[in-house]
Amino acid sequence: MCGIVGVVGAPSSGDLGEVILSALERLEYRGYDSAGIALVDSLGEVYRERRADRRASVAELRSLDLPSASVGIGHVRWATHGRPTVENAHPLVDCSGQLAVVHNGIIENHLELAEALACRGHRFRSETDTEVIAHLVEEGLAEGVDLLGAVRQALGVLQGAFALAVMAACAPDRLVAARRVSPLLVGLGDGVGVVGSDVAALIGETRDLAVVEDDQVVEVRAGSLRALDAAGVPVTLAPLRVDWDLAAAKRSGFPDFMSKEIAEQPEAVRQTLLGRALPDGRLRLDEMRLADAELREVDKVIIVACGSSFHAGMVAKYAIEHRARLPVEVDIASEFRYRDPIVDSRTLVVGVSQSGETIDTLQALRAARTWGARVLVISNVVDSSMAREADAVLYTHAGPEIGVAATKTFLAQVVAMELLGLYLAEVRGILFPTELEEPLARLAGLPGIVGEAVERSVEVAKVADALAASRDFFFIGRHVGYPVALEGALKLKEISYLRAEGFPAGELKHGPLALLDEGSVVVAVATRSRLWEKVVANIAEVKARGARVVGVVNDGDERTAELVDHVLSVPRTAPLLTPAVDVVPLQLLAYHLAKRRGLDVDRPRNLAKTVTVE
Ligand code: M6R
Repeated sequence: MCGIVGVVGAPSSGDLGEVILSALERLEYRGYDSAGIALVDSLGEVYRERRADRRASVAELRSLDLPSASVGIGHVRWATHGRPTVENAHPLVDCSGQLAVVHNGIIENHLELAEALACRGHRFRSETDTEVIAHLVEEGLAEGVDLLGAVRQALGVLQGAFALAVMAACAPDRLVAARRVSPLLVGLGDGVGVVGSDVAALIGETRDLAVVEDDQVVEVRAGSLRALDAAGVPVTLAPLRVDWDLAAAKRSGFPDFMSKEIAEQPEAVRQTLLGRALPDGRLRLDEMRLADAELREVDKVIIVACGSSFHAGMVAKYAIEHRARLPVEVDIASEFRYRDPIVDSRTLVVGVSQSGETIDTLQALRAARTWGARVLVISNVVDSSMAREADAVLYTHAGPEIGVAATKTFLAQVVAMELLGLYLAEVRGILFPTELEEPLARLAGLPGIVGEAVERSVEVAKVADALAASRDFFFIGRHVGYPVALEGALKLKEISYLRAEGFPAGELKHGPLALLDEGSVVVAVATRSRLWEKVVANIAEVKARGARVVGVVNDGDERTAELVDHVLSVPRTAPLLTPAVDVVPLQLLAYHLAKRRGLDVDRPRNLAKTVTVE
């Protein structure tokens, strides 16, 4: 959700402008409505270029002959305030054009600030909320305050969420960066100081990174970082652990990140399982700041998450209720804190988030904490905002996921949910360590089974060919097949732009059945679960209404295969692990249908990988 980067100094890896553009290429998954770069050139002037071509903004910037520079900032945008045009692309400048700012987040009081600034003679050239920052800092500099002081002054009147970086022609040896809510990292590399939204932006220059916390402001120079808190008191920034390298953020010969990340799923599952079982048979999370006695007091679990992570959270309800015999509620994170949930110190609130930065989930967890709950986070990004604020963390070690559509992180989350269910069961004395052996053995076999499902891409592509003309898709499933149906529908709509809805199979007859006609496609998760016979009955219902049926069917299940028009076959696994296998052909179906439509599967329209605005 917008990506920012800033570099100051003399990078050993190339021209400063080139370094910024390389970082923007790795940040494009955060936003790609438009992109821009600003540099202070060797004449001491601000040079700025912006492009608003969704498919190629950064590539177009690459074709420019950039001047050599001592400091620069760059931005990829996911529009919130103002259309995705060149005028609204970042960096945005002050009246003089000699001060530039990039911003991720939303300035909530920008209208009143802009009105006051306009009355004081400032001229606005964009429709963005961000531009007020440039003019506010401009006023500080005009009063003779240095860049750090001017940014601090501006922060004093800004409301909302932001991660921002500011540079000015009058201060060519530094950048100033600040954060409130939206994520921000700073670091020092060989000859440079750097600022960026995430590790992907900065890893080309350094792994020596630190986390900027809320309301901190940092002056970044080549070789030094100076951080202040809201009161102006110097602070030491918390170092960030970086657990992946530059190669992991590249496509490595795959046509796109999505196909690479689908292929990486067996490894994502394997890594998430690694080192979980201690020699005494007990299970281990990554970080645990809760005593066993506290977990034994828990009488309810609430899971909060968005999108695919929410679907994984739905799987957790089955896993935790079955394993740990605790009641589980699953809540859409953006709704949770606006109702009046019953939360107290005996409630365990579990945040599920690939990025660990999704603002809706982060704010839900913060609300839960103020209500006294214990907070556990399942995150794929080490030291993410959610992970740092939680009482306990279970990392999904799936590696960086760049494609906007979540794939391998969903599987890793399903695995994490099973681990969490087992962990809670063990701590609460429902399962003895010896009783963990069988479910852990089943988990250990999962990477191989997922691998088999991933290898069937060619078969799925043939089904996609047969469905190429279809426009209306209904995904149905029961029990843990229901979240799989929702996830399959989400994948299809987000990357292929086809109408796709997921339903519990038993609900169709309560309304949605009216939508079905001869042109409809029903994708049924019909693997051999406890409710298989009921799903088969639901398949008969939709076939009777003329729909074509695609079935996710277990290997060797000829009976189900004969009932459906197209088979997506998958190997069999343990009931609670089936989502991690049954979802694979649905990911591949969405992928192949989108490819046939000529769409960019990594960067679907209107979407960004990490949603850091409410
Ligand atoms: O980083 P998070 O897991 O918190 O992200 C949540 C959703 O934004 C995310 O799952 C989104 O729905 C994906 N595009 C799904 O493919």
